[in-house]
Amino acid sequence: IFGELRRNSAGINIEIESQWRPFVESVQALGEHQWQAGPIINGVVQGGKTEAITAPYDRREAVGSVDFASADQVEQAITVAAKAYPEWSERSASERADCLLRLAGLLEANTGELVALCHREAGKTIQDSIDEIREAVDFCRFYANQAATELAETKQVTSFDGTSRLLSYRGRGVFACISPWNFPLAIFLGQISAALAAGNTVVAKPAEQTSLIAFRAIELMLEAGMPAGVIQLLPGTGAEVGSPLTSDPRIAGVAFTGSTETAQLINRSLVARDCESVPFIAETGGQNAMIVDSTALPEQVVRDVVRSAFASAGQRCSALRVLFIQEDIAERVIGLIKGAMAELSVGRPEMHSTDVGPVIDAEAKQKLLTHIQSLKNQAKLVAQAKLGSDCQHGDFVAPTAFEIAGIDMLKNENFGPILHIVRFKASELEQVIDQINQTGFGLTMGVHSRNERTYRHIERRARVGNCYINRDQVGAVVGVQPFGGQGLSGTGPKAGGPHYLYRFTQDVFNA
Ligand code: NAD
Ligand code: ALA
Repeated sequence: IFGELRRNSAGINIEIESQWRPFVESVQALGEHQWQAGPIINGVVQGGKTEAITAPYDRREAVGSVDFASADQVEQAITVAAKAYPEWSERSASERADCLLRLAGLLEANTGELVALCHREAGKTIQDSIDEIREAVDFCRFYANQAATELAETKQVTSFDGTSRLLSYRGRGVFACISPWNFPLAIFLGQISAALAAGNTVVAKPAEQTSLIAFRAIELMLEAGMPAGVIQLLPGTGAEVGSPLTSDPRIAGVAFTGSTETAQLINRSLVARDCESVPFIAETGGQNAMIVDSTALPEQVVRDVVRSAFASAGQRCSALRVLFIQEDIAERVIGLIKGAMAELSVGRPEMHSTDVGPVIDAEAKQKLLTHIQSLKNQAKLVAQAKLGSDCQHGDFVAPTAFEIAGIDMLKNENFGPILHIVRFKASELEQVIDQINQTGFGLTMGVHSRNERTYRHIERRARVGNCYINRDQVGAVVGVQPFGGQGLSGTGPKAGGPHYLYRFTQDVFNA
């Protein structure tokens, strides 16, 4: 349904057993299943160098295998996508949108398997897996709807001098879509659906850690009737697949989500290309803060801090990293945070009772443990949650909170369940905002205050993409909280917002 009647997909209430149990059962039913993936070029699955995939929560558990693409396959995929572009871009926007709507339906129809895949390959909890699929469905419908309603018609535009011309939107050519593992379906399909809806063809490179989920999504896309030339899939590493893909002069635009460092590498390679400049949409990392003043409600603060810092094992770009608490209520809030962290259940993510699952891989775990170890020498340990008894064979990191001297101690994004706490005096509020802005990142910020003047002032001064008042700061909803950062956190336009789709188009004025 296009236009006003578009709705986001319905969720489940994880507190109600009859709603969550079917998903736990589908994970159990597919417990032994082995998935296989490889490059998909012109609708045909190809072979390549085979990598085994194991579960992040228990490395003894095989999940399947993936064949990584070769340099030749990168070349072939771009050739096929370039050939398919003219015909696809000539199709009406509503025809393109129809393919995405059928895909959204197929994603919903296959939710059981996709939940099992998100759980087993990415280590997501049941709640996070369901949210992942919902967000992917919502992106497909959102961009399909926008394309069908806003890009379809040629519009007559009348200028101030009374003359008129025709405005239409076209695709740009072949888009490279490069995505991270932490939203292996939602961001993967969000980028692709926008690029396709706008009339481009796509060569997609998913994160190497979550190739199976990406492969299944492209299978469903082809089943939904997407022409085979329009979408190519190249599993593989950044160095072997991502880099040659973005360096190819036939690539007419790049949609990237991942770390700030990788975005900078890609940006440099695009600048160095000996051809015309192309759009580069980059959504990257953050050093996200929350400011809590003395008027805030401590219980509400603690609920929102715990969710923002530790949900999804802290592996959200939006996650809270640095909590600034006004001295007057710091003792009380920190005491409550300790209590809440003692209650966190860390363990195998398919258990309905699990709050925090594993991190993505051994390398991520090691980086986080090194950071924890270094803070033990320089900061005060506030609390560390206990690992469950089922954690010893997986890549788990216990949620940990430290009090630190200041945000300038943190040079990088620490992408996991680690919370840093800084106390401030009421007279220091302006400095706190300056320090947060000076990190150069600008993704999310949380504010807890019952004083409207204070929170409006912070909101105005904060250089961030998404500022959340008196709530948690994760879980932006497609079409409701358009999501994306500024500075080191991204180029915009915001995903799931009114301008994103247009960045994939070329607007043409005919006199
Ligand atoms: P990453 O930068 O390591 O990888 C992202 C993607 O880039 C992967 O597919 C990877 O293979 C590819 N890549 C790596 N090197 C490349 C190169 N030289 N050329 C082309 N492609 C290359 O990031 P990650 O670890 O997968 O994801 C976590 C990061 O993503 C965090 O920093 C997080 O904050 C960020 N993120 C941002 C958003 C957002 O909306 N702002 C959303 C999710 C994740
Ligand atoms: N859009 C994701 C969130 O808001 C990253 O948590």
